[in-house]
Amino acid sequence: MNKLEALREKKAAIALGGGQKRIDAQHAKGKLTARERMDLLFDEGTFVEVDVFVSHRCTNFDMAKVEAPGDGVVTGYGQVNGRLVFAFAQDFTVLGGSLGEYHEEKIVRLQNMAMKMGAPIVGLMDSGGARIQEGVNSLESLGKLFRNNVLASGVIPQISVIMGPSAGGSVYSPALTDFVFMVDKTSQMFITGPNVIKSVTGEVVSADELGGAKAHNTKSGVAHFFAKTDAEAIEQVKVLLSYLPSNNMETAPVYECTDDINRVDPALNVIIPENPNKAYDMYDVIKSLADNGEYYDVLAMFAKNIITCFIRMDGQTVGVIANQPKVNAGCLDIDASDKAARFVRFCDAFNIPILTIEDVPGFLPGTDQEWGGIIRHGAKLLYAYSEATVPKVTLVLRKAYGGAYIAMCNKGLGADLIYAWPSAQIAVMGAAGAANIVFKHEIEEAADPVSKRAEKIAEYEEKFSNPYRAAERGYVDDVIEPALSRRYIIAAFDMLASKRDSLPAKKHGNLPL
Ligand code: HXC
Repeated sequence: MNKLEALREKKAAIALGGGQKRIDAQHAKGKLTARERMDLLFDEGTFVEVDVFVSHRCTNFDMAKVEAPGDGVVTGYGQVNGRLVFAFAQDFTVLGGSLGEYHEEKIVRLQNMAMKMGAPIVGLMDSGGARIQEGVNSLESLGKLFRNNVLASGVIPQISVIMGPSAGGSVYSPALTDFVFMVDKTSQMFITGPNVIKSVTGEVVSADELGGAKAHNTKSGVAHFFAKTDAEAIEQVKVLLSYLPSNNMETAPVYECTDDINRVDPALNVIIPENPNKAYDMYDVIKSLADNGEYYDVLAMFAKNIITCFIRMDGQTVGVIANQPKVNAGCLDIDASDKAARFVRFCDAFNIPILTIEDVPGFLPGTDQEWGGIIRHGAKLLYAYSEATVPKVTLVLRKAYGGAYIAMCNKGLGADLIYAWPSAQIAVMGAAGAANIVFKHEIEEAADPVSKRAEKIAEYEEKFSNPYRAAERGYVDDVIEPALSRRYIIAAFDMLASKRDSLPAKKHGNLPL
């Protein structure tokens, strides 16, 4: 065999990973192989593999005899919709995609390249966790990998796609990245699996119930996106990437806007119900403001009382944070605060302007919330908005009460421009609650306390439940006709495009975690 044939043979063997039997088993579980996933992610013919021949050096437990093509991970770079992206795909057919020392070193090297080149990194994860045979060697490089996740945080977008097991040591790298996708039924993330849980706490739970895509999208908030298949997850990754810049020194790509930037939407003039206790769907407002009504929801299934999504306005990416009156009246709670704060920080790190749409009656009352630390969690949102230097525009639709009014980015927290609809009620609290406190004695002492109370509520509403007191002080820049909102907001972001703002020099702040 000549050298060329030998090379081809070696490469063919590497491409086969753990062999046809294990590839068939992978397919039988409804999963694609690492290389099939990479093929779907990258534009045709653009993927270039690196560290192709790397393998393990472990001799424990007869491992010297074990072939591990690529040490169980395919790494490389290519184009996604014409833009440079780095990616790695764990190969479950090779030692269960476990994190061996060289498997981890390959990812670390790829992270270093992605950071130097300023391009996003996508991890397609399918792994049984730290490679048990390698002992502490696998843990040491895993530490390096985690640290690199942290060093890359805020420098390049990091995206994890969980497409199989992600157990033990496999979970923390995704958790340190910006966005986590999970595939329904075939992916699970947990620190300790069902067997360990049963032996320690006695709880009986299936792997899917414990750490499947539904659990992490709806209960824990660990996963931001839910996909039905591997292919769907990869398609979603491409959509997400289209909204993001390649690194923190760039702005997101601007697409040609095919929607009228001055589009007037009369439906917005009547969207707020007469009855302040009635809900409407905030997504209708977002769709009306966005180019072509398109939005890309982040953490759509978690803390639905707040919406975090990407839209484009005049072709430019905008990050939207909006209260959803349809869920818990749009109250801010622990999960909503965490969800919104993290999104604000992502947008700020990557030069994405922020639009806040406000209709919030306040923070959710209750012992659960107080003892769960709503003060600490709500503080994250105040912190995130306050340190964000990107353009910040706030649109107040209806309720904007108390601390929640501040937490949804008022002028004090650094909003550059605030618009309000005539239906806005910017006050310390709702009229009913306020009247009960301010006019307590008058109501109690009245001959007819019920009608006195109604009269006082009306008086408070008349005085404070409107946008004009705030506008008189300049806390609101203008009260606008709802139908014209898109025009005003696009003009605002256009004006703010050259905004320069900076924070006092420091090592880093101390976010209330
Ligand atoms: C070495 C592993 C492995 C691992 C799986 N394999 N996990 N090899 N180290 N961590 C190997 C199996 O031996 C098997 O080899 C092949 O991968 C496929 O595994 P199966 O068990 O046959 O597949 P399946 O039935 O689909 O089950 C997948 C699994 C299970 C749920 C992931 O393998 C599993 O429970 N693995 C261990 C998970 C775990 O406890 N990880 C934590 C490691 S400690 P063959 O040769 O038969 O194909 C850790 C510490 C870090 O991560 C903590 C930091 C927070």
